[in-house]
Amino acid sequence: MSDPGDTVGSMTETADALALEETRASYDTVAADYADLLRHELAGAPLERAMLAAFAELALAAGAGPVGDLGCGPGRVTAHLHALGVDAFGVDLSSGMVEVARADHPGLRFEQGSMTALDLVDGALGGVLSWYSTVHTPPEQLPAVFAEYARVLAPGAPLLIAFKAGEGGRRLEHAYRHPVSLDVYYFAPERVSGLLAAAGLDVRSVLIREPGPDERTPQGYLLARKPAAA
Ligand SMILES: C[S@@+](CC[C@H](N)C(=O)[O-])C[C@H]1O[C@@H](n2cnc3c(N)ncnc32)[C@H](O)[C@@H]1O
Repeated sequence: MSDPGDTVGSMTETADALALEETRASYDTVAADYADLLRHELAGAPLERAMLAAFAELALAAGAGPVGDLGCGPGRVTAHLHALGVDAFGVDLSSGMVEVARADHPGLRFEQGSMTALDLVDGALGGVLSWYSTVHTPPEQLPAVFAEYARVLAPGAPLLIAFKAGEGGRRLEHAYRHPVSLDVYYFAPERVSGLLAAAGLDVRSVLIREPGPDERTPQGYLLARKPAAA
């Protein structure tokens, strides 16, 4: 007879797998419209571009390998980094998003995969970009995702994470012109900082931007770095 603790463990794993499946299926559905709606969004976002420029400069200075845009969606930010001179590639859970990214940016590399278990050796990346890709990650899974980011970063390489700042979240049943089934989570910036530090990263800077007209929360942008090898 199984131990009651094992049952709780497997229920948690099942819930995690279901949440990932909901996210994947929803983004498969919205991929093409998401790409159309957000294709030019960065052009009107100077603070975001400033954080991405700082991240790109740090990654180029570290010179520690390719930069992974983890949860890249249609690859619009991967392409922005590429235009800044960064050797960037994308990974996304949704095969629909990966197809759209490859079609929109044929010169760049995009792979399907999950940032909860990346197909990369330790220290493979000269930078990790997580641009709103944890917005559907249940809070209790953040430590495992951040540990994965820290594992694949090379010593001295930067991480930039964008997230919706706050507490709680909401259920989305419709988004980007389609029915979806998605939980959106808001994270307190201090909590994101604390969890990244617990994963072994040095938090270097946190920018909080007030909500725009179509946003419900402030937006958080946090730069961190994997400590250089001793
Ligand atoms: C809000 S979209 C952001 C996409 C892109 N970063 C952008 O800003 O356009 C969230 C993306 O994260 C991806 N995603 C969510 N969980 C993921 C996971 N565990 N591994 C890889 N990608 C994930 C989704 O498929 C989706 O494309």
